[in-house]
Amino acid sequence: MLQVKQAKQIQGTVRVPGDKSISHRAVMFGALAEGTTEISGFLPGADCLSTISCFQRMGVEIQQDGDRVTVKGNGWFGLQEPTEKLDVGNSGTTIRLISGILSTQPFHTVLEGDESIAKRPMRRVVGPLREMGAKIDGRRNGEFTPLAIRGGELTGITYQSPVASAQIKSAILLAGLQAKGTTTVVEPTVSRDHTERMLRAFGIEIVQEGNSVSVQGGQSLKGRSIVVPGDISSAAFLIVAVMMVPNSKLTIENVGINPTRTGIIDVVKAMGGQIELTNQRIVNEEPIADIVVTHSELTGTVIEGDLIPRLIDEIPVIAVLATQAKGQTIIRDAEELKVKETDRIATVVSQLSKFGATVTPTDDGMIIEGSAQLTAAEIDSMGDHRIGMAMAIAGLAAPGETVIHNSEAINVSFPGFAQLLEQISQ
Ligand code: S3P
Repeated sequence: MLQVKQAKQIQGTVRVPGDKSISHRAVMFGALAEGTTEISGFLPGADCLSTISCFQRMGVEIQQDGDRVTVKGNGWFGLQEPTEKLDVGNSGTTIRLISGILSTQPFHTVLEGDESIAKRPMRRVVGPLREMGAKIDGRRNGEFTPLAIRGGELTGITYQSPVASAQIKSAILLAGLQAKGTTTVVEPTVSRDHTERMLRAFGIEIVQEGNSVSVQGGQSLKGRSIVVPGDISSAAFLIVAVMMVPNSKLTIENVGINPTRTGIIDVVKAMGGQIELTNQRIVNEEPIADIVVTHSELTGTVIEGDLIPRLIDEIPVIAVLATQAKGQTIIRDAEELKVKETDRIATVVSQLSKFGATVTPTDDGMIIEGSAQLTAAEIDSMGDHRIGMAMAIAGLAAPGETVIHNSEAINVSFPGFAQLLEQISQ
C-alpha cells in the first residue's frame, strides 16, 4: 500500500531508473551475441528481471547486481532448449520479442506469464511468425498464452503491420535476422525504434526508410558495452508532478529523448508547460539529455494520430495532468490502450473518477474535463504499474491522503518510485 499526501512543492535534481525497452533489448541482444556484453544503467524492475531469467533458463550466463549486468553470449545458436516453461511475468515486451527469437531456434519452448499476460493478444506476433515458417500454438489458435514454439528454418517476409507496435516490429525483425532473404516490416506510423538502434550498435545492418524497416538474414551480433539512459516513461510521472504542484521545479538528469518516445514533452509544451532539454548527447545511438521542468499553467489539448505511439505508455499520467489544465483534453486514436497491462481506458476512467475528476471513455481514447478540484481517494492499481504511479501523482494535487492499493505493481518499471516521490515533495 502506498500513501501520498498533497504536496506544496516539488523540488530537486534527480535521476530515474534505466529505460525499460532498452534494458530488455540489451539483455536479449547480449545473450544472442558472440562475446560478453556489459550493461550499466540497467533497470532492475520486475519486467527486465523476467527477461534475464528466461535467458538464464536457456543456458546463458548472466550476472546482475543492481543496475549492472554482465551477459556472456554464445552466439545466436548458443541457446539451449529449456527444461521448464519460460515465465515472462507481467512483461509483454519479453514474451513478444522472445517469440521472434525462439522462432529461429531448433527446439521447443513454452512461454507463460501472469494473469494480465494471459489476457493480452499474441496473434499479432504469432501470425507473422507463422507466415515466416515458425510452428507456434497457444490458446484460441495462438491468440493467448501459454504459447508453445518450435522454431526452425524461416523465410523472410514483407509484413504490413496493422498497428504501430515496436513489439510486433521487433519480434519479426529478430526472426528475420536468421531467416532466408530479406525481412521487412511496414508500420502505419513509426513505433519506438530502440531495436533498430541497438541492433546497429551490435553490428547489424538494418535499413530504415520512412515507415519501413528491413534486415537481411544470416547476420550475427557482437557483444559490447551498453549504457542505458533513464526512462522517459518514468520521468513522465515527475514531469507531470511538477505541472500539478505550484512553485515546483525539477531537473531530471540523463533521460533518453529518442524522438519516437518524446510525445510527452511535445504535449506538455503544447499545453503551455515550460520544459527545457540541456546537456544533449548521444550514447550507443540513443539521444540523451537532462530535462528541466518548471511549473506552468496549462491549457487542454487534443492528442491524436502520429503522436499516439510516441506517448502510448504516458497516457494514464497525461490524463491526470489534463484534470488540472484549463478546458477539455481529448485523446483519440489510442485503442491500443485497451490491450496494455490493463484496459487503460477503463482503468484510468474508473480510478481517476475516484478523485472527483470527470473523464469520459470513448472507443479510442477519452475526454478529460480540466480545472478539476481533486479530493484524496482510495485507489487500486489493478495490478498495472502505470495506473498505480499515475494515481499517486494525482494524489499530490488532492487535499488529504490518497492510498494506492496493490502498489507493488510499481516495481515492474520503477523500483524506488515511492522513495523518490517523497524525496522531491514538500
Ligand atoms: C514496448 C513497446 C510498446 C510499449 C511497451 C514497451 C517495447 O508496446 O507500450 O511498454 O519495449 O517494445 P507496443 O509495441 O505493443 O505498442
